[in-house]
Amino acid sequence: MTYENALKKLVSCGQEHLLAFYDELSDDSKAALLEQIDGTDFSIVDAFSCEEANAARGEISPLSALTVEEISEKEEEFRKAGLQAIQDGKVCAVLMAGGMGTRLGTAGPKGAYDIGITKPVYIFQRLVENLLDVARESGTWIRLFVMTSEFNDEPTRWFFEEHSYFGYRPDKVVFFKQDMAPTVGFDGKVLLERKDRISTSPNGNGGWFSSMIRAGLGSILEEEGIEWLNVFNVDNVLQRICNPEFVGATILSGCEAGAKVIRKAGPDEKVGVICKEDGRTAVVEYTEMTDEMRNAVDDSGEYLYNFGVISNYLFSFKGLMRGLDQQLPIHIARKKIACIDAEGKEVKAEEPNGCKFELFIFDLLRALEGCLPYEVVRECEFAPIKNKTGVDSLETARELCKKNGIEL
Ligand code: UD1
Repeated sequence: MTYENALKKLVSCGQEHLLAFYDELSDDSKAALLEQIDGTDFSIVDAFSCEEANAARGEISPLSALTVEEISEKEEEFRKAGLQAIQDGKVCAVLMAGGMGTRLGTAGPKGAYDIGITKPVYIFQRLVENLLDVARESGTWIRLFVMTSEFNDEPTRWFFEEHSYFGYRPDKVVFFKQDMAPTVGFDGKVLLERKDRISTSPNGNGGWFSSMIRAGLGSILEEEGIEWLNVFNVDNVLQRICNPEFVGATILSGCEAGAKVIRKAGPDEKVGVICKEDGRTAVVEYTEMTDEMRNAVDDSGEYLYNFGVISNYLFSFKGLMRGLDQQLPIHIARKKIACIDAEGKEVKAEEPNGCKFELFIFDLLRALEGCLPYEVVRECEFAPIKNKTGVDSLETARELCKKNGIEL
């Protein structure tokens, strides 16, 4: 992109200050900045000026789930249907590992975190081992897609390579990068990380499918006849991946999606809750729940919004394709963002000084016909490592692994 075209693009969205230091830059830096401007979608920034309208929700009402008891009654039927779909090559796995892992404070990819006690056991390794269980049970190598971001793509690929894909078949693993979104200050102006670089952050886990398609991976899905994508978080070291019961239950339900849920530990647990929104299955994220919703109870004192998503979903490929062009809601998070000011001086923020824009995975449900909330046993399938200590930390995850007979 030429300087003139970059300026034109920026003027049209009120962001021409991004070229303020252009004349001071070396030729390489100039080229890099112009390339970044060319590749950046600034329209996401508009969400900042219409935040209220963007956050508006429909009529929210409670929703129950297919319970553990109900699942166990039909387990054989579900298992058979799921196993068949897996053996027919209709199911793949998608690991979302593009996040920044800020809360845990790891340098490098979160999945490279060693949770072992007597030997190294990496988060990626635990996830691959869980998938290997199903590969063995079904006699099928399930394709595994791994979503990374600009920040961790190379180290993630290297880590898999270095550890021989933790026993998985390398040709069955495909990496792709998610898109980035610019960050803005509270004045709505996009921030500069350096004089030659716009400040960006991963655009949230809701961008996984469009990023995957943009990376050209739709052809693999089509050629291999994949119909179902099991998408999951990097941080939950106990979750079952592509387990036949979940796959089978979702397929037999006739829904285009399934969402694994747990009974919440309490109203304040940091999980999104499954609910109905204008009659359709939806999720309200924990950061966006009102106190009223969080604490709402029925006549017998039970919490009404009691099923939290563990962020392990099964989506139909057909349904996702139908929704590919929909504009997902843009969620705005106020954060401390390292950047430079108008004079080019580094700003080390002590307090939130700007916003990041994120798309959320469960908003993809809007385009899909039905979603089965599928209850899993918390102690067996939910050991997220989010924080350094305390709740949802390395300690709690190790404890849960031990209870499930997993040697660390
Ligand atoms: C997430 C879920 C929440 C759920 C909880 C269960 C979302 C938006 N929130 O919350 O509903 O109850 O897990 O533990 O899904 N990621 C990317 N790219 C990004 C951002 C995140 O790949 O740009 C990945 C992360 O690497 C991680 C997953 O998405 O695997 C969840 O991200 P995180 O920010 O940790 O979500 P939580 O707040 O824990």
